[in-house]
Amino acid sequence: MATKSRSTSSEQAQPGTVDMDKITSLAKRRGFVFQSSEIYGGLASTWDYGPLGVLMKNNIKAAWWRAMVQDRDDIVGMDAAILMHPDVWKASGHLEVFHDPLVECLNCQHRFRFDHLLVGQVVGDGPKFVAAIAGGSEDEVRKLVQAKAKKAGSNIGNVEIGPARVDESLDAHIHGHGSIGPLSAVPCPACDTVGSLTKPRMFNLMFKTFMGPVEDSAATVYLRPETAQGIFVNFENVQTTTRKKLPFGVAQIGKSFRNEITTGNFVFRSREFEVMEMEFFVKPGADDEWYRHWVQARLDWWTGLGIRPESLRVREHGKDEMSHYSKGTSDIEFKYAWDWGELEGIANRGNYDLTQHGEHSGKALKYFDDEIQESFVPYVVEPAAGVDRGFLAFLTDAYREEMAPTGDSGQAKEELRVVLRLHPAIAPIKVAVLPLSKKEPLAERAKEVAATLRKHWMVQYDDAQSIGRRYRRQDEIGTPLAVTIDFQSLEDQQVTIRDRDSMQQVRLPIEDLVPAVRDRLGL
Ligand code: GAP
Repeated sequence: MATKSRSTSSEQAQPGTVDMDKITSLAKRRGFVFQSSEIYGGLASTWDYGPLGVLMKNNIKAAWWRAMVQDRDDIVGMDAAILMHPDVWKASGHLEVFHDPLVECLNCQHRFRFDHLLVGQVVGDGPKFVAAIAGGSEDEVRKLVQAKAKKAGSNIGNVEIGPARVDESLDAHIHGHGSIGPLSAVPCPACDTVGSLTKPRMFNLMFKTFMGPVEDSAATVYLRPETAQGIFVNFENVQTTTRKKLPFGVAQIGKSFRNEITTGNFVFRSREFEVMEMEFFVKPGADDEWYRHWVQARLDWWTGLGIRPESLRVREHGKDEMSHYSKGTSDIEFKYAWDWGELEGIANRGNYDLTQHGEHSGKALKYFDDEIQESFVPYVVEPAAGVDRGFLAFLTDAYREEMAPTGDSGQAKEELRVVLRLHPAIAPIKVAVLPLSKKEPLAERAKEVAATLRKHWMVQYDDAQSIGRRYRRQDEIGTPLAVTIDFQSLEDQQVTIRDRDSMQQVRLPIEDLVPAVRDRLGL
């Protein structure tokens, strides 16, 4: 076996330093994500996953399902309907309290989430240049304020940044901490008119639709804002059919819908998204320990699939920001291109949900413990991760721009290569098969090799343009391995296998290819 090693001077992007425009443009250009209904001008903040995107998303979900359901004996899966009895949402509290504060601009009619408004103003005695954004970073608002000051020819002083304020009581309720500009002095983030924003009013996030042909309120149903309730209402069905003893969990992956006021940052916040949720039922009193266990286990899952530990942090919620059902919540946050943001939430939901459904349905959802011969309502700990946010985190963390020898050719000349250093389990395509020529009999042999590999993994066959360009195309979509077939292969029945990250090439017999690929992918 001959080994050709290629050196690379690489610039390892630090977490959070990747340019978001580069991620979105790669996602569009290479068929990961498209704007939904694009030919009609698009539907705001809804996204379609293309040929590579769906593969990657499926890989994320499969890895989660494997870790939750297949690798363990104490968690089972299920798949509940999106539409549920409307009383479910009364019992769960979503009808009453699943609200966000909405402010509207009376000038341009744009709507914003009040608690997402970030206001910046110049500090000091001179003119107070003020700017506001909805759902952006401190850096962005600072730049806006500085641009305003500069345009007016003023010296750029320090910029003070904080959330918008209505009055002390409401402010304390929503933010729980101090804030700067009162709403009456805040410019609209869309049209910059000062004083045009209304006071916040509470807005329910659930999408409504009508069941059956008559659009009256009796037939109103909701698109689920979380999948968890489908698990809670099936607690008894699952427990009695599987005969699971506490502690045990129920896992589910599915679409959720929230009529978010402010969306944005690509797939980070949209109105239709997918979640991977697991409800882990435990004895009362064991909940705190299991809560801590799941925070760590979930963090390990993300890093085990290649996310750099420094790109992740755990943030415990303050009392003021916890959901109505929660006894304690920690977010696993990822350093996205714009800032830290939630990737997954782990909540100790206590016995809130099962108790509520027991009371509202009249069918007590309890567990009979035959050791102590007593029934009780179990507690539940819930790790809930966004598939789309996971997708964005994997993409962002894997993105690198590196200097590499032109076309992998070993020449002294270097060029920039974009490479997604995705974990093999997450990469959409596992192996690329690249014949050196389109001509027969090389093409036939290469297609045979591709067919053999396809029985095991997702393969892409590419015979267009130079080999160097084809390597670059595969690097850019994160394909861990490329197999090249050259004229010599017809003689010696050997092929070259090239590693995405090291760009090392190794020649080996075709008959050893499947075990060699399996060994390198670890899949
Ligand atoms: N059952 C618990 C629950 O729904 P959540 O923190 O509201 O908890 C779970 O949502 C996960 O879903 C979040 O950690 C996030 O990754 C994702 N998520 C929430 N809202 C989202 C949105 N509008 N767009 C995309 N993902 C979202």
